[in-house]
Order: sequence, then structure tokens, then C-alpha cells
Amino acid sequence: MLLLVWLLMLFVLYVIVKLWASAFGGEIKSISTKYSGSQLLQKKYKDQEKSVRLEEVDGAKLVKTVAENMEEIFRRKAEATRRLVEAAEEAHLQHEENPDLQYEYFNAVLINEVDEDGNSVELGGEFILEPNDHFNNLSVNLSLSVVQVPTNMYNKDPDIVNGVYWSEALNKVFVDNFERDPSLIWQYFGSAKGFFRQYPGVKWHPDEHGVISFDCRNRKWYIQAATSPKDVVILVDVSGSMKGLRLTIARQTVSSILDTLGDDDFFNIIAYNQEIHYVEPCLNGTLVQADRTNKDHFREHLDKLFAKGIGLLGEALAEAFTILNEFNQAGRGSVCSRAIMLVTDGATKMYDDVFAKYNWPERKVRIFPYLIGRESAFADNLKWMACTNKGYFSQISTLADVQENVMRYLHVMSRPKVIDHEHDTVWTEAYVDSAVSPHYAACLYRRALSQHSNSIRIQCSQYSQWPNK
Ligand SMILES: *[C@@H]1O[C@H](CO)[C@@H](O)[C@H](O)[C@H]1NC(C)=O
Ligand SMILES: *[C@@H]1O[C@H](CO)[C@@H](O)[C@H](O)[C@H]1NC(C)=O
Ligand SMILES: *[C@@H]1O[C@H](CO)[C@@H](O)[C@H](O)[C@H]1NC(C)=O
Repeated sequence: MLLLVWLLMLFVLYVIVKLWASAFGGEIKSISTKYSGSQLLQKKYKDQEKSVRLEEVDGAKLVKTVAENMEEIFRRKAEATRRLVEAAEEAHLQHEENPDLQYEYFNAVLINEVDEDGNSVELGGEFILEPNDHFNNLSVNLSLSVVQVPTNMYNKDPDIVNGVYWSEALNKVFVDNFERDPSLIWQYFGSAKGFFRQYPGVKWHPDEHGVISFDCRNRKWYIQAATSPKDVVILVDVSGSMKGLRLTIARQTVSSILDTLGDDDFFNIIAYNQEIHYVEPCLNGTLVQADRTNKDHFREHLDKLFAKGIGLLGEALAEAFTILNEFNQAGRGSVCSRAIMLVTDGATKMYDDVFAKYNWPERKVRIFPYLIGRESAFADNLKWMACTNKGYFSQISTLADVQENVMRYLHVMSRPKVIDHEHDTVWTEAYVDSAVSPHYAACLYRRALSQHSNSIRIQCSQYSQWPNK
């Protein structure tokens, strides 16, 4: 009888596994059919059957040729990026920062816009665009790039204007790169100041809500190139004082931190009051890969946080250090940089005992405290934690401040790369071309699908920063 039950269980298991396998297989098949256009190919072959003849090929030779061709494609893309990096560094070196600089540039959103009287708006101006086959029939300008500035930033901020001014030098490199390698599509430059220069020039349109949420510093290619892979534990204070607006800002802060993490990174989120609560209790004591699915899953749990009780930061810190260290020692995770992001409205103590136990003297884990709210009575302890643990302190008083403040930690994390003058070329995974605004992305994507000519791209980026300027 026991045996029968076992056999039955085995059989059930077998059926489940089989179901999985066939569901999985079916999924793969439908994806590959959708994206490879294999049915179209089969039909084309059928039409041509009479004129088709069989020819034997040497598989090894074929693979070698394909590999060589691929290598050449990658080499040329990396070469184009390298030329841009060199030009950018040179132009930046020659540039004297001038806070009063007045400079009109072509803003991607404002070009060809006119006011009620028919006059060009500021930073707009006439910008000639022509449809181009190579760019999915989008209207582009092949001699100039355009500049996009995130919506929450001022178009004429001196930092932006200076950056846009010196990076004009990239226009001729963009054009030259495209002449040398006509298979190139979009070329861009993303600045740590937030502006984004894109070649060829193209007009950007806001989405149906009238906004463009694009910030180049949130894109995977930017983050991957700017920082090494990292393990991150986010600690969120949910003690009673965080009630209301502070908790809303805290949630937004955590969500923005998640935006800056990518497939190479690992993370977890712990909420604390007098106890510690993993926001996803199933993932207690570990870190997970910061891929889109995991990030979305954690975001859903953020909405369930509520504030009560008192905050005992010491235990939360100890827990964070413990999982970061265990994960690192096990050789899992990113094995590179480690950080604790602390989202709170203040700390009454310095917790030097905790740091002494887990992080000093090596200070392998950086601490980035985000002080939520307008008060700064409890800021000193947090500042001290940042300073003594190679981190950076920020205060976030309103929802509008969140993104800009969260982004700052990236500069700190990229410092070692700058000091080492690293110029690695970083390859992202393949992208479906969604280069432009979300609006464009959606329609390009639909167009691509309807034409069976889905354009998958691999992006290549390099990071560069100038330490002493
Ligand atoms: C790009 O736009 C500028 C400014 O409108 C114009 O002078 C130039 O001729 C355009 N280039 C092309 C290739 O259309
Ligand atoms: C672009 O438009 C031309 C003419 O209108 C058409 O022949 C061509 O197939 C289109 N190309 C793409 C990629 O849509
Ligand atoms: C994590 O799991 C362990 C063992 O299952 C349990 O003892 C511990 O209380 C859990 N911790 C938290 C914070 O949920």
C-alpha cells in the first residue's frame, strides 16, 4: 500500500513536471515563433520550393565565419563608443565652467514648437527633420543631436547649460561614427547632471498625460556602466513618527532606489520598528537578483507598510550587515560593492558599537542615509554614519526631491572607477529599440511587431567622469 502511494505520488510528480516542461516548451516555441518570423520564412521557402537546391555546408566553418562577423560588429560598436569618450573627455578638459553662460540649444521636446504668435519658443527653434528608412521611418536630422532634460529639472540650470555647451563637440563624432559604420542606429551621451544628448536629432513628444518621465540616469545602460555590480540592503523606518507624508516619501524613495538597481545587482528590503520585518517574509535572510520581476514584486509589498511603534535601528543594521556578509562570504551576489540604504526620519544614537562589530576598520559596506522630512534635529547622527562608512548623506523633504537625491549615491559608488581611470566597455543585454520617449517606444514597438521586423539591439556604453573639476 505504501509503495502504491509512493508510486502514485511519483506519477503525480511526473505529470506535474511534464506539464511544466510542456508549458515551458510551448512558451519558448511561441516566443521564438513570434520573434524569429520562422513561419514567414517557411512560407517563403514553400513559394520558392522549385528554385531551391540543397547544398552541403561545413558547420564548423559556418560557425567560425558567423563568430568572426559578430566579433567585427561588436568591435566597431565599441570603437564608436571609445571615440565618443575621448572627445567628451577632451571637450570637458578644455571647458571653463561659467555660471553665467547663456547658450541656446536644441531641446528635444521644444524644437519646432511655436507660441500663439507663431514665434519659436525658447530652446526650440526650427529644426529640420526628414523621415529616414534606417530609423524606422522616423523623422530625424542627421547632422545634429538634440538634448533632453528630465522634467523635474530646469532647462537653463547653469550645470545643464555648461554641460550641453561643451558636449556640442560630440556632434561631429556622432556624424563621423555613423559615416564609418552605417549599421549604427542611435548614439547617445548621458550626463551625470541629468541631460541626455541623442543622435540623430529627433523630436520628442510627451505621453497622453503630458509628461516625459525619461531620465537617462535611470536607464540600465547608464547604471551598468556607471557602477560596479552591488549588493544592497534597504532599511525602511516604519516607526510611529513616519506616519503620513513621511511614509509616502519613504516608499517613493525605496522605489527610486529600486530603479537604480539592475540585473547585475542583488537586494532585499527590511522595514523596522521595535521588530524587523522583511517586506517579503518568504525572502527572509537572503538577497535576490534585482531583475524586473523581483523589483515589481517588492514594490507591491511596499504599499502594505504602515507606521507604528518605536524604531530600533541597531538590530536592523545588525541584520543588514549579517546578510550582506553571509551572502558575500558564500560567493553569491555581485561579489563587488556592498551598501546599506537607510530611509528614516532620524536616529537618536550613533550605533558605533554596531559599526565597530560589523564594518570597521575595513568599511567594506557603505552606508547611505536618507533623512525623510523637513526637520534636521536628528541629522547629525545620520551624517556621521555616512562619513564613517564611506557613504553619503541626503535629506529628502518633499516628493519632488526624491529622484534627484537618490541618484547621488551613484556618484559615490562610481568613485573607485573614476580614481582607477577605468574605461571598460560595458555591454547590456539585447534591447528592443525603445530609444525614444515612452510614447515612441510604444508605437515603434507596435510598428515593429506588425512588420515582423522587430529590431533588437545591444547597447554599448562607457562611463567617464572627471574627478577634479
Ligand atoms: C538639421 O537641422 C539644422 C537646424 O534646423 C539644419 O540647419 C540642418 O540643415 C539639418 N540637417 C539635416 C541633414 O537636415
Ligand atoms: C519607409 O517608408 C518607405 C516609403 O514610404 C517604405 O518603402 C519603407 O518600407 C518604409 N520602411 C520602414 C522601415 O518602415
Ligand atoms: C526568519 O526566518 C527564521 C527561520 O525561519 C525565523 O526564526 C526568523 O524569526 C525570521 N526572521 C524574520 C525577521 O522574519
